[in-house]
Amino acid sequence: MGKITIAIDGYSSTGKSTIAKQLAKALGYVYIDTGAMYRAVTLYALQNGLIGEQIDDNPAIVESLSKIDLEFRYNDTLEYSEMYLNGIHVEKEIRSLEVSRYVSRIAEIKEVREMLVGMQQKMGQGRGIVMDGRDIGTVVFPNAELKVFMTASPEKRAYRRYKELLDKGEKVTYEQVLKNVQSRDRIDSSREFSPLRKAEGAITFDNSDMGLQEQFERLYNYAKRVLESKKGAH
Ligand code: DC
Repeated sequence: MGKITIAIDGYSSTGKSTIAKQLAKALGYVYIDTGAMYRAVTLYALQNGLIGEQIDDNPAIVESLSKIDLEFRYNDTLEYSEMYLNGIHVEKEIRSLEVSRYVSRIAEIKEVREMLVGMQQKMGQGRGIVMDGRDIGTVVFPNAELKVFMTASPEKRAYRRYKELLDKGEKVTYEQVLKNVQSRDRIDSSREFSPLRKAEGAITFDNSDMGLQEQFERLYNYAKRVLESKKGAH
């Protein structure tokens, strides 16, 4: 059976990555978390003192892009790929609240987006990919056979993220997390280059009141339907 490209976009903490990972595994596809790439660039900028007052029009960040090597390496135990920044495993560091605080601003930089989008398009050349992010269905793969736009209320999303951070031992309050979620929504949807919006032909998927199993089943069925119709067309 031919393979398809699955693009999953949506607001932060909608649970995109959990469901995208599960879907990729069930289909035998590669899963790519593009947020991890923006987060790794942000971590690099933080580690190298490149984040000051000015973030969006900062030549130092743009100049340093050639020194940033991003790589996804498959972890056999976890059964998904993890992010390596210049050869170092950074999965934990890129999920910290500090990186979350700056990542939307870094993602506003045109040159950062151009570099990462180019890498993403290369990764998906052979299809058989589930990619999640903000601009996958609109910019990276506008011809993806299945596009999903995930949403959930900001309160539900903040609560999920809050629990996740507590589990990781981060000291945060629910209010801090809610503020971060709301501010990222604002920046992600209003930025000049590739703002978050529903792609043409995307399915809106509100998972505010849906458990993981139900989400997975619904998306898996969408994918199966697309695959079946593809088979029928040949
Ligand atoms: O999905 P996430 O929360 O890990 O994404 C982190 C940030 O990166 C988010 O604030 C928006 C940005 N992002 C983006 O602009 N485009 C993408 N394709 C993925 C993430």
